[in-house]
Amino acid sequence: MKKIIKKKINELKLSNKYRVRRAKDSGNSHIFVYKKKEYLSFASNDYLSLANDKRIISSAKKALDKHGYSTSSSALISGYSKSHFALEEELSSFLGQEKTLLFSTGYQANLGVIKSLVNRGGYIFADNLNHASLIDGSILSRANFKRYKHKDIDNLEELLEKTKSLENKLIISDSLFSMDGDFANLKKLKSKLNKHKATMLIDEAHSLGIFGKGGSGLLVESALNNKDDIFLTGTFGKSIGTFGAFFSGKKDVVDFVMQNSRGYIYSTSLPINTVEATRKSLKIIKKEDWRREKLFSLINYFKCNIKNLNLSAINSDSQIQALMVGSSKDALFISNELMKAGIYIPAIRPPTVEEGKSRLRISLTVDHSEKDISYLLNILDKLSRNLVQ
Ligand SMILES: Cc1ncc(COP(=O)(O)O)c(C=O)c1O
Repeated sequence: MKKIIKKKINELKLSNKYRVRRAKDSGNSHIFVYKKKEYLSFASNDYLSLANDKRIISSAKKALDKHGYSTSSSALISGYSKSHFALEEELSSFLGQEKTLLFSTGYQANLGVIKSLVNRGGYIFADNLNHASLIDGSILSRANFKRYKHKDIDNLEELLEKTKSLENKLIISDSLFSMDGDFANLKKLKSKLNKHKATMLIDEAHSLGIFGKGGSGLLVESALNNKDDIFLTGTFGKSIGTFGAFFSGKKDVVDFVMQNSRGYIYSTSLPINTVEATRKSLKIIKKEDWRREKLFSLINYFKCNIKNLNLSAINSDSQIQALMVGSSKDALFISNELMKAGIYIPAIRPPTVEEGKSRLRISLTVDHSEKDISYLLNILDKLSRNLVQ
């Protein structure tokens, strides 16, 4: 065992895929403080810059004083509180769904929900670029697992056609893809459901808070909320600026998941201070349209300015902008050079992305400025010229 591990670690190092963590001193959103030095960060999912919001922190503190830290149990034993109930209700109303179930993480939600909905004998059809938690949930479910080419509805149709006679079919997709920053075509996906008697699970991890009225997500924006055959998961660890996750849909489906999801049944519920922080964050998100407006203007600025440079960016209209580099070695090189210039963007490498598609994943947040973006693009331009020579 020891020998095998040593060999495998060595292989990771030789192929530039060995991962390291940097223990930050502090920082969310656009700042990353490491070894007492402040970096301009484009590596945070705190897109709306709410993780350090004083109003959210104050809600968490109040709840901490009143309820203590842990709920000390899973929700089905004694870990479910009025706060959990209130957040579930508020989320259902925000998302235009009948019922919501809180989970401790998005990863856990996806595993628990998928395995509850489809098992052996069932079929899962998943976009090739779905998040790892959706892939792992699909494998764990033991259903037949088919992956269609990224956003390729014809390819999905072909796969669905081959399973015509079967009943239990679930299509799974991110609504906003986490590494490419592009959107699923939700309306086209929906058009396949009736014909093939399928249902659909959409992961709104990266779209929630940003897209849809008041940040209510892309299903709401596409008028695909409150449907019998569409459910969604989401996480609070990104735009919401807190921690935790949820599953939402029609009442009977959510009830069913509550009865069946082992990740829900056998895990301690979210701390009440986290739930109260999330309730406060949702109130702010709904009201403060200026955050979305600022973010959209930064996205626009980024897109306009990157056009003039000799950089290969994936076409994205979201806060996630991917700069394609290719090899893990080059991606690591650029990331290290950026650090020398005071910018923090870790290299994204396989297995997170496909072999040969290593990249810099640039995430924009409300606290960035146009000046920050110009600085980044200037440095990137210089670095890419050096790399080509
Ligand atoms: C699309 C998607 N789904 C789910 C998750 C997992 O969420 P969490 O961090 O709450 O476990 C992530 C996080 O990276 C994600 O990007």
